[in-house]
Amino acid sequence: MSTLLDQFGRNIEYLRISVTDRCNFRCRYCMPLEGLPWLPKSDILSYEEIRDVVAQLAPMGLRRIRLTGGEPTIRPQIETLVRMVRDVPGVEDIALSTNGVKLPELAGRLADAGLDRVNISADSLQADRIVAIARRNLGFDPIVAAGAAQAAGLAPIKLNVVVMRGVNDDEVVDFARLTLEHPWHIRFIELMPVGALEPLTDDHVVPSDEVLARISHALGALASDAGPARGNGPAAYYRLPNAAGSIGVITPMTHTYCGSCNRVRLTADGRLRTCLFGDHEVDLRGPLRAGTPLAPFVRQALAEKPEAHALLSRRVGGLRALSQVGG
Ligand code: 5AD
Ligand code: SF4
Repeated sequence: MSTLLDQFGRNIEYLRISVTDRCNFRCRYCMPLEGLPWLPKSDILSYEEIRDVVAQLAPMGLRRIRLTGGEPTIRPQIETLVRMVRDVPGVEDIALSTNGVKLPELAGRLADAGLDRVNISADSLQADRIVAIARRNLGFDPIVAAGAAQAAGLAPIKLNVVVMRGVNDDEVVDFARLTLEHPWHIRFIELMPVGALEPLTDDHVVPSDEVLARISHALGALASDAGPARGNGPAAYYRLPNAAGSIGVITPMTHTYCGSCNRVRLTADGRLRTCLFGDHEVDLRGPLRAGTPLAPFVRQALAEKPEAHALLSRRVGGLRALSQVGG
């Protein structure tokens, strides 16, 4: 089987595909209230084009796909894309990152189309806070969304909580408690104060060690855990005594896992980005639309994948973020 190694020997087998830059939420940590200068439709890859990119990368070693956005479920008939990607030989795992708003309606159709699993953004369990963070009132209920995913068989179910001091950090124990009853994996993510996120700043970052300490203080000792069987990526997992689910932390601000990074990203307009936090990217849409093979462009992008990202030189939560590569 073919493998795609970058210049640091990292095996790139995982592609995050942004299917749209638009979203029905305006989460404070992600998007300005007025939205972004959206890409024109003609710039966005069609489902056929996305499938063709995957079909060209699969023989090079691509095994796992994640559909993201913006919000992927607002693109019409997203289940059609799931089915098309499912049919590409070599693709072993297809996941979806969603804000969960449309899951009660779509989970069954997505599972039928061949989706394996979902990550749901859930930053609060309180209705008024959900609206305050997402800045849209769409009646989102994370428990209902996760329940719909579970009923459709989209397991393992992961809920991502971006922890923000003074905004939702008083809910970490409530979220952790959910794992006692539900076979869900609750992942606490350190806020990355990137871009124009006023008024969110480094002061709103809660180091994951603090999150774990608060949970174990309230609910008992946390044991290290292997976490969900599939797609562990950069999270470290723990489990409360006798819990059905696990607790994960993702620590972009206080640790780095660039050294084991196995992922690249395809933007909605067809550029291959090799790091979330850099502008290292190579256009694939041009060659794709010209009928030119993509392999040389992919190899060029990987040759330029950075060794580590730059957020780590910042001060976080009173600590200087660790700057060694690895971990
Ligand atoms: N900080 C941390 N996580 C973020 N996400 C988006 N923006 C940020 C940010 N500034 C992640 C969250 C969210 C998903 C869509 O992307 O996990 O749930
Ligand atoms: Fe950003 Fe996701 Fe929130 Fe949409 S739901 S604004 S893409 S974080």
